[in-house]
Amino acid sequence: MAKAQIKVMDNGSFKVSGDVELIDMDGNVFETKPVFSLCRCGQSQKMPFCDASHKGKFASCVRAEKVLDEEEK
Ligand code: FES
Repeated sequence: MAKAQIKVMDNGSFKVSGDVELIDMDGNVFETKPVFSLCRCGQSQKMPFCDASHKGKFASCVRAEKVLDEEEK
């Protein structure tokens, strides 16, 4: 399976893909699809998953700092 990846979506969720297991504080495993979205707006009725409640109500566009290659330095 592919390496796990978490993508920070503009104005929305964390999109998770790859070989990852989502567990609660007691170690119980959530049933997930190969690609799923986690809520980061706090408004979902299906926590910890995104249910699209964020649409039009949540604004956050974040970018990682660009890491320069040795050639770009
Ligand atoms: S990020 Fe989608 S419902 Fe919270």
